[in-house]
Amino acid sequence: MTTSESKVSQTLAALGVTTAEQVQSLFAEVRQLFDEDMSKDAVQILWKELRDKWIGRKSGLLTLIGDNWLKVASPDLKRTVGQELNKLKSHVQEVLSRREAASDSSEAGQSIDLSLPGVLRPIGTHHPIRQVFQEIEDIFFSIGFSVGEGPEIETPYYNFEALNIPEHHPVRDDMDTFYLDLPKGAPGPLLLRTHTSPVQIRTMEKRQPPVRVIVPGKVYRRDNPDATHSFMFHQIEGLAVDTDITFCDFTGTIDYFVKQFFGESVKTRFRPSYFPFTEPSVEFDASCVFCGGTGTAKSGGTCGKCKGSGWIELFGAGMVDPAVYGFVNYDPKKVSGFAFGIGIDRLAMLKYGIDDIQVFFQNDVRFLRQFP
Ligand code: FA5
Repeated sequence: MTTSESKVSQTLAALGVTTAEQVQSLFAEVRQLFDEDMSKDAVQILWKELRDKWIGRKSGLLTLIGDNWLKVASPDLKRTVGQELNKLKSHVQEVLSRREAASDSSEAGQSIDLSLPGVLRPIGTHHPIRQVFQEIEDIFFSIGFSVGEGPEIETPYYNFEALNIPEHHPVRDDMDTFYLDLPKGAPGPLLLRTHTSPVQIRTMEKRQPPVRVIVPGKVYRRDNPDATHSFMFHQIEGLAVDTDITFCDFTGTIDYFVKQFFGESVKTRFRPSYFPFTEPSVEFDASCVFCGGTGTAKSGGTCGKCKGSGWIELFGAGMVDPAVYGFVNYDPKKVSGFAFGIGIDRLAMLKYGIDDIQVFFQNDVRFLRQFP
């Protein structure tokens, strides 16, 4: 403590101050002490310490002056001490706040260094299923398809009846699904769609041919989860209808898609199948991407992915059944077309050699990070 500082701990009487002039010169001394503090290099000063020293509530110098000089001053000095203390207080506060504001703005100025590297925030990546959706969308965009969408909560009419699956048709057993509990009196029933095919109907109701659309989306089935089944999975529906679409257009389109997606060396074939809303219906296969269609694994044993057949089943498809056109007021004598429904999760498993569908839904970042 300097001499001037130590004076604030004593009373005026102890300091021998008895006149107004002595009071004024004492305050001038203190003010000089404060100004000296303020003239120190800003970098060496800790503002909090300086504030505490001068205006700290319990033991700041101004508080001590109030307690030791003003409160106990003799009646004839009290007025002068009060006036001098007020002048000192406003000087101290004004200078302190001016200096602090200047120091804040110079610190703010220093913090903007445009040459520093930016802060990298982890923003994640698209889920592999989303990435596969995008890849497939790009392939179909390149041959004139657009993207459509439809609701995940459907009516039985769109999910079944308009697709030529009447109420007691046996195919409903495979596709039986989750129905919604609706409040009494609500129009119903409603269900979680089992495939993206209802959007075929919704699209044709809204548009006249030519129609070329793909519909990516989630679908739901009452299937028990295992390595290739999930109760929620993803499909892409495809639909092309025009006045002169043939089976050749259909196979050519699918072949183009499969080669773009898996690579030029992949071969395709189709086998007869059955869907109530396509006629004829087919199952599309691709030559096994793991063993190159040979049926033999690199180790020399039977390929586990295609079980030695050399082929892997990809998806169902077919020429749109003329009965379906009746539900959307298209003239089956004038139009023809094809439709397909691709299970995206299984397609992604094939492309990336994933042997359990469940990993898509477990949100394990160690898996997801493999798809940057
Ligand atoms: C259908 O869903 C038809 N709507 C496809 C279609 C569309 C045919 C247009 C003709 C014309 P399917 O039930 O086979 O067909 O399912 C299509 C694909 O969904 C299957 O090939 C399979 O890849 C996938 N899939 C079916 N069930 C599951 C499941 N529980 N978990 C994961 N993927 C599934």
